[in-house]
Amino acid sequence: MQTITVTTTPFMDQRPGTSGLRKRVTQFQQPHYLENFVQAIFDTKNDLNGGTLVVGGDGRYYNREAIQIIIRMAAANGVKRLLVGKGGILSTPAVSAIIRKYHTNGGIILSASHNPGGPDGDFGIKFNGDNGGPATEQVTEAIYARSKTVNRYLTTHAAAINLDHIGHSHIGDMAIEVIDPVHDYAELMQTIFDFDAIRHLIVDNGFRLCFDAMHAVTGPYAIDILEHRLGAPAGSVINSTPLEDFGGGHPDPNLVYAKTLVEAIFGNNPPDFGAASDGDGDRNMILGAHFFVTPSDSLAIMAANAHLIPGYASGLKGVARSMPTSCAVDRVASELRIPWYETPTGWKFFGNLLDSNQATLCGEESFGTSSAHVREKDGLWAVLFWLNILAARRTSVATIVKEHWQRFGRNFYTRHDYEAVDATAANELMHHVEQQLPALIGKELNGIMVSAADNFSYLDPVDKSCSERQGLRVIFSDGSRIIFRLSGTGTVGATLRIYIEKYESDSSRHHEDTQQILQPLIDTALTLSQLRQRIGREQPDVIT
Ligand code: G1P
Ligand code: ZN
Repeated sequence: MQTITVTTTPFMDQRPGTSGLRKRVTQFQQPHYLENFVQAIFDTKNDLNGGTLVVGGDGRYYNREAIQIIIRMAAANGVKRLLVGKGGILSTPAVSAIIRKYHTNGGIILSASHNPGGPDGDFGIKFNGDNGGPATEQVTEAIYARSKTVNRYLTTHAAAINLDHIGHSHIGDMAIEVIDPVHDYAELMQTIFDFDAIRHLIVDNGFRLCFDAMHAVTGPYAIDILEHRLGAPAGSVINSTPLEDFGGGHPDPNLVYAKTLVEAIFGNNPPDFGAASDGDGDRNMILGAHFFVTPSDSLAIMAANAHLIPGYASGLKGVARSMPTSCAVDRVASELRIPWYETPTGWKFFGNLLDSNQATLCGEESFGTSSAHVREKDGLWAVLFWLNILAARRTSVATIVKEHWQRFGRNFYTRHDYEAVDATAANELMHHVEQQLPALIGKELNGIMVSAADNFSYLDPVDKSCSERQGLRVIFSDGSRIIFRLSGTGTVGATLRIYIEKYESDSSRHHEDTQQILQPLIDTALTLSQLRQRIGREQPDVIT
């Protein structure tokens, strides 16, 4: 094999966001753009030289081309063994599981998660380390620093690898294995959940489910697990073929984008259970007949019912949630007498807690939940968790949630997103809110006292690293919260997220409308931030 050294000049915009480097496909298609970033990974992670690497993606447009580029560069950079999913497909949680199972030195995941795909859509790349989790902040920063100085990359001439057949081949000294993307992941799920009980529920009790794969990566996983292994009738998984443009859809599992599923669940004769996952399979949305479970509630309910799941029957070490996620799970943790942790937004912050066995379950309000079985959030795992609870409790999703509220109280919760906002105006808005914070403490807003107000910073209890400026918080004495944050995953302008939460212990109010209950706090947030004047928007683009 002849190593080719290609001269290049750095791009200055390759700083990874909340979850890897995400840009328009057209940006990634510029000569050397992808190559520079991949070389920055190889130059930073020296153990890949002589090591094993996993590569796969969510099947979006440019996935296959990117994989062939990475394969040639891996060979030239001394990788000994490379595992790649058949068809270039590997979900984010499957990559994490495979890294862990085969003790590889890391993995490269090609995905822009829930962002739309296709030639005019988004593409993304992220590196996961040998624990299976997203690269830590230090590693990400080192890759970014390298990307700003990289002046050559290594590749080789080699025929394209046939990604559509499981089997072995090689380029020079590098062995390449095209693997079944589903097998290892499905086996792992079978070690955690009571597949017999779930199968019994579905096959013998006529329990009906609908899983929307949104034409993204989870289709093959859901067909194998839900239909083949658990006996759900054919057709229970919809939109199951991964498509390069996700069928023109927006592969984000929420009430707006998972349209077919939502219509079925809120229509006549709905299935008992509905769920969806996103582009790369790490997010989940959970629904019951005529019922939506908020991700924050889902996390709390999982924690409260974990004893019913074989993989967690021995107890949870602790739970962790991202700061903007509602405090519902904290109440469960207190009752279980286990520690709970509050981390910045982004899955990477859970890694140390999971690695050090201080937390077992983790979750984010953004439709992400998972546990120590991998180091990523895991959409289908969450679906199986719920199915296992339903198989054990034999009651409806709505009843499980309502009983949970009765026992722990309800954290009314919403997130309002303002997308593609002018970046300068968004930053100025944040600055305007931040400078008011110190003076708010001890004051009353709408008749409730502000007990704390700050820009959230996090001291990692394991490696003692400190992550600052992670979101502006206004916390009230009754536990209500208003949080302002700028997204780190958007690709156009800025996305402003406002998170609003109010705790209600009175169960006679639990059926009330979330937006109505939260309206006074929403108004306070709008006033505090002068949102309408500053960004010129009347309504949020997405409410979850
Ligand atoms: C968003 C979510 C965050 C999640 C990330 C990756 O990031 O808010 O919870 O970890 O996507 O899926 P944001 O755009 O808010 O930075
Ligand atoms: Zn995702």
